[in-house]
Formats: sequence, C-alpha cells, structure tokens
Amino acid sequence: VRIDGTPHRTIELLDGHVRVLDQTVLPHQVQWRTLNTLDDACAAIADMWVRGAPLIGVTAAFGVALGLRADPSDAQLAHACERLLATRPTAINLAWALARTRTLLEGVAPPARAAAALVFAVQMADEDVLINRAMGICGLQLLSALAQKKGTVLNILTHCNAGWLATVDRGTATAPIYAARDAYIDLHVWVDETRPRNQGASLTAWELGQEQVPHTLIVDNAGGLLMQQGKVDVVLVGTDRTTANGDVCNKIGTYLKALAAFDNGVPFYVAAPRSSIDRSLDDYRAIPIEERSHREVTHVQGRAVSGALESVQIAPSGTAVANPGFDITPARLVTGLITERGVIVPSRAAIAAIF
Ligand code: MRU
Repeated sequence: VRIDGTPHRTIELLDGHVRVLDQTVLPHQVQWRTLNTLDDACAAIADMWVRGAPLIGVTAAFGVALGLRADPSDAQLAHACERLLATRPTAINLAWALARTRTLLEGVAPPARAAAALVFAVQMADEDVLINRAMGICGLQLLSALAQKKGTVLNILTHCNAGWLATVDRGTATAPIYAARDAYIDLHVWVDETRPRNQGASLTAWELGQEQVPHTLIVDNAGGLLMQQGKVDVVLVGTDRTTANGDVCNKIGTYLKALAAFDNGVPFYVAAPRSSIDRSLDDYRAIPIEERSHREVTHVQGRAVSGALESVQIAPSGTAVANPGFDITPARLVTGLITERGVIVPSRAAIAAIF
C-alpha cells in the first residue's frame, strides 16, 4: 500500500533490522518500530502493533529468527515457537507459520540457523504478497461479474481489517477490491467500524483512503439496514481460521453481517488463503475464541483536540464485561471462499481439493 504516495509493506527487513508499522497508533500517527528480540516479536503480536491473521504468521517467523540470533540451540528453537504460539490463540496462520519454520530449521545445524530463519521469514513475507495477489485475481472475476450485472457502482461491505494492514501487502479481502479498482471497476466500500478496537474505523478507512478507494465508514449496526435498502451488493470479509467443512471464524460481528446478508439475498464471500484453513478441525466447535482485555470495551482510544492520543472511559466503573474477539459464521451462510487457487464453495470436498 502507499503511505502518502510511497509504497510500503507492513513488515520489512532493513539493513538486517526487522521493522513493523505500529498499528496501535494509526490512523493518527505513522510509527515504525524495530523488533530486535524474541520478546519484541511476542509483544508486537500480543499488544497488536501487528495484527490480522497472515501478518501475525509472518511476524512470528521473523520472531523465531530473532530468538535464534541470541541462541540457536534446539531448546531455544522450541522455546521461541512455544512463546510465539501463545501470543494469540485464534488465527491458525500463527501455528501454520511456526510449524513450517520449525520443521525447516530442525534440519539446519545450529550455527546456520539464525541466518536460515531470516531467509525463510523473508520468503514467507514474499509468499504472502503473491498469495494475496492471486486471491485478488480470483476475486476480481467475481467482482467484475457482479459489477457488470448491476451496471452501476458496486457496493461492497467489509468488516474489521482484512486489508493491507492485516497482511504483508495487498490484503486478503481487499486484494480483489484493489484489483477491481486497478481494472477501473466503479466501486464503493462500506466500512464497519468494528468495535471494540475499531479496526475498520482506524485501519480499513485509513488504508482505503491512502489508496483512494471510495468508502464510507458506518457503525457496526448499520449493515442490516443498508442491506434491506439494497445498498450492499456483496459482503467481503477475511478469516482467522476456516475449518475443513467451511465454517468461518473471523472478527466478532462477522456472523451478524452474514445473517443479515442471508436474509436479504446478498452474497457473502470470505477471502481465505490456504494458510487460514485448519483442516485438522472438522467444524468450528474446537476453535479457541480469544477473550480480550475488558478495557477494550469500557474505554475507547482516539485523538484529543490537543492532538494527543487518549483513552477515555465510556462505561460505568466496575461494569461486568465480556469481550470475545471472534465469532463463527457457519458454512451454510457463506456463498464462497476466495482462495489463491480460485473461488470455491464452502464444502468439505471443495476445500480438500485446493490442497
Ligand atoms: O484482532 P485482529 O485485528 O487481528 O482481527 C483481524 C481479523 O479478524 C481479520 O478479519 C482476519 O485476521 C483476516 S485478515 C486478512
């Protein structure tokens, strides 16, 4: 994506240093942070300087490389993988990236491990960009057909941020949007604010703005009305973990959008790279749903008139709070999965066939 016109990736290796864009201060500040140690990489994921399933995975691969710089032993390799795996529970990309990294490095002698790990992490970052571009091409066909059928501006609704900021570049759900924009398809995106952390308001609105994609920010509860009014032609979201039968786990609130879409005959598509598909789970029931800090619900962060970033309390002190970070959209509500190998129906057979 471009930041003030200059193309960037969310995670970059610069002169041997791993650098990430701190997403906790966007859209108000563009701050890059350097990750020097395994602790830094764990903090980057747990504290959400980086977030989004594919980016979490790639950051973890860099985290292993940083851990091995200090100590390339078998014990440290195991320790690094365990610590990184414990940072966030829901997105399967984290486990996927760590399993691949560990398998590869176990076959490398300790003195060569740190360098090999860094090369592998860079490859994984490059691979993520290619996967997203492939999903963009597959999704473009879909958006193009919908746009042709409609004949006027195509209205897409998205939830959370499955964009450039959730990946190394290009995004998953946004990849078809950027591809459609590049193909001069007239489109407009409804951006759900996505309480409690407001990834839609802070991140998706920001990156679509940087890319000059027409968009409108809405509160999470507005989507149903817009669908009833015929103002949404397609819903396009990402996924943190999709199971072997096509059940989709994604940011809390996704399920309610899928229900409204189903009720209004609006197609509901999920951009799902194979790295987000967990074929070891038959269905959603065993997916661990992250319970996040209650402060995310009782407080809201934003920029004060003074320009400083501030957190303000919106709920009475001491209110009981629950804060599940993700929900499940059952396969029956999903029209299709946009993968890097084509758009498929969310069925066991179709999913097995792309592996
Ligand atoms: O809690 P987050 O911000 O990491 O949640 C991100 C999402 O839910 C995304 O939709 C998902 O990771 C897919 S990203 C391509």
